[in-house]
Amino acid sequence: MASLTVRKLDEALKKRLRLLAARNGRSVEEEIRQILGRAARGEQGESAGTAPVRQASARGIGPLPARHGADEAAPDIKRILLIIGGGIAAYKSLDLIRRLKERGATVRCILTKAAQEFVTPLSAGALCGERAFTDLFDPLSEFDVGHIRLAREADLIVVAPATADLMAKLAGGHADDLATAVLLATATPILLAPAMNPRMWEHPATQRNLAQLSADGVVIVGPGEGEMAEIGEAGVGRMAEPLEIVATAELLLRKAAGDQPLTGKRVVVTSGPTHEPIDPVRYIANRSSGKQGHAIAAAAAAAGAEVILIRGPVNIPDPVGVSVVKVETAREMFEQVERAMPADCAVFAAAVADWRVSAPGPEKLKKTGRGPALNLVENTDILATIAQRKAKRPALVIGFAAETEKVFANAKDKLRRKGCDWIVANDVSPETGVMGGDRNRVHLVTTEGVESWPAQTKDAVARALVKRIAAALNKEANS
Ligand SMILES: Cc1cc2nc3c(=O)[nH]c(=O)nc-3n(C[C@H](O)[C@H](O)[C@H](O)COP(=O)(O)O)c2cc1C
Repeated sequence: MASLTVRKLDEALKKRLRLLAARNGRSVEEEIRQILGRAARGEQGESAGTAPVRQASARGIGPLPARHGADEAAPDIKRILLIIGGGIAAYKSLDLIRRLKERGATVRCILTKAAQEFVTPLSAGALCGERAFTDLFDPLSEFDVGHIRLAREADLIVVAPATADLMAKLAGGHADDLATAVLLATATPILLAPAMNPRMWEHPATQRNLAQLSADGVVIVGPGEGEMAEIGEAGVGRMAEPLEIVATAELLLRKAAGDQPLTGKRVVVTSGPTHEPIDPVRYIANRSSGKQGHAIAAAAAAAGAEVILIRGPVNIPDPVGVSVVKVETAREMFEQVERAMPADCAVFAAAVADWRVSAPGPEKLKKTGRGPALNLVENTDILATIAQRKAKRPALVIGFAAETEKVFANAKDKLRRKGCDWIVANDVSPETGVMGGDRNRVHLVTTEGVESWPAQTKDAVARALVKRIAAALNKEANS
């Protein structure tokens, strides 16, 4: 008898699940994943069997135990509602969905009618993992999710591409389709990534709308300058790159959550290689990509710090929300570091050339049958100079040690010789793929010992390091 009741219940639950999945245009497995996800986030929402699921999550598999330096920070990016407008750049928004999801976000998507001329709801929905929304008067979605819930169940609304038309409608308070109705029905922060022809961007009407939107508290990322989709057209109007939009979203979300432990702190970061000229066309360099230093600058900015990034020649975009100073040589880098002081923390992640050519040729050197006799002199040791300074020394001075052998021993020795507080040591032997790669395995060397962090992305290393910096600076401030 009892087993019959359980079986009946089981059947009823399965039927309810199938119904829900069909109504939401998802597979049963995906529906279960969504329900479990909502329950894990503690959100209300219709589920096939709400009570049992909630109980399961309340009993919860708590957070994993913290590991040294693992990027245990909760994902900074949470629930994003992405509105795709009708512009050529709509194809980039598909990549944006991927990038947001890589950062742990749940992404819901609305496509305007015009957007569907450029990308399909099917592609956007497939990337989001749930159906994309398109219609204000669609009874199925209105009675299920509904435009008001779409607006409320997001921590941030991103409009990308934000067309001239969407900007005008939002500035004017229109609500004649799903996208604009949602934008008007929300108090959630809004981030716009405009994209349009430069003439449209420069038009006084667009500039008027932009000023109105900024006054209303809407945040704008981009547009950048460059070639347009139309052959021969160039100027300001290119949509910001997806990674720049993600970084800005992260900044906004952390600000909204008050999760900015470096607020009021000034952090100086160096990044990339330096180029030491041999003559006007040749130079001595190294393989540093700048990825780790740039990631640290970005993470410090996301944590609320005022960041000055002094960077050598690199081929990666400048991080969002930092002041960037571009240099070529070690001497220029040192000058700019001096200029950027005082700071609460200095992170010297740049691979600064140890030597420069004492007298670079004023003209291109010619072949003479023998190699040129280059006289090399040592560059100023930026890390040691700042770490050993009495006045204006940052409270926390962090150096990087790129080693190819005896990583621990060399890093400990470097910590002692340079007089800095921490050394982040990494093995840059070619087989590790660290130089130029996206992942890093570092060892944090302090006077208290060595912590070996797990291999993780350079972004994750940066976030973990910034967390430690914030803890150290705030401890110092409170002591
Ligand atoms: C091929 C093509 C490309 C377009 N690209 C853009 C664009 O990049 N930015 C823009 O603001 N409008 C662009 N438009 C015009 C918009 O699609 C049009 O203003 C539309 O009404 C915008 O609708 P929405 O704002 O609801 O998405 C383009 C139109 C066409 C036909």
